[in-house]
Amino acid sequence: MIIRKSAREIEKIAAAGALVAETIAHVGSVIAPAVTTDELDAAADAFIRKHRGVPTSEGYKGYPKAICISPNDVVVHGIPGAYEVAEGDLVTIDVGITLDGYIADSAYTFAVGEIDEEAQRLLDVAQDALATGIAEARVGNRVGDISHAVQTLVEDAGFSVVRSLVGHGVGRHYHEDPHIPNFGEPGRGPRLSEGMTIAIEPMITAGGSDVVVGEDGWTITTADGSLAAHFEHTVAIMGDGPRILTPRVGLARSVEV
Ligand code: MF3
Ligand code: CO
Repeated sequence: MIIRKSAREIEKIAAAGALVAETIAHVGSVIAPAVTTDELDAAADAFIRKHRGVPTSEGYKGYPKAICISPNDVVVHGIPGAYEVAEGDLVTIDVGITLDGYIADSAYTFAVGEIDEEAQRLLDVAQDALATGIAEARVGNRVGDISHAVQTLVEDAGFSVVRSLVGHGVGRHYHEDPHIPNFGEPGRGPRLSEGMTIAIEPMITAGGSDVVVGEDGWTITTADGSLAAHFEHTVAIMGDGPRILTPRVGLARSVEV
């Protein structure tokens, strides 16, 4: 069942979303060579709680940390730990926050210092894929319009979308209907209507689509060891077009429609 939200509820999700964006920027300011992902998680946890939020991932289906941190070939759900960030890494920070009973979800892949040209192109394509997906998040379109726009942009660039992981409705719960796949056919799937709030999140790789789950039951890496990138926004379908509820703050490049 798809839960459409009232204007009042969308403002609550936007308030959670603003804190998500600030948390991502805060973690970004702490990312540096030799910092561990555990230290980044602790920084996020303290920042979120200082602002009266609750990290939604913590305890979700038993997830042990405040946020997900996914370096290099880790696509999503990397568990913060002893890993030390290094120059040249791609590091995805994925943050869900519950504030005043409402939830927003966003992710951003940071480059650590100098990265190679192909890694930079992967980041650019993933951000463009998110933007083109958001542009399709309009009343009267269908979920497949978002999915197809993302897939086409990514595959035309020579990269792959991960198919076994999808975006989702979000707001009252972390994961609501509908699924938002990053591949599909235009004009197919659930129709988008006013008040829907969805997390659009292209997860892309420089190699193939296949991913594997690690022994910890969470960490999802590319099967071929290729680099991955992941950008996500929580978006409301409004009468006058998509509204990003997790707009970037304090980052080098923002994703706008
Ligand atoms: N934030 C993730 C998403 O984009 C969900 C993480 S669930 C967790 O949907 F338990 F791994 F944190
Ligand atoms: Co999400």
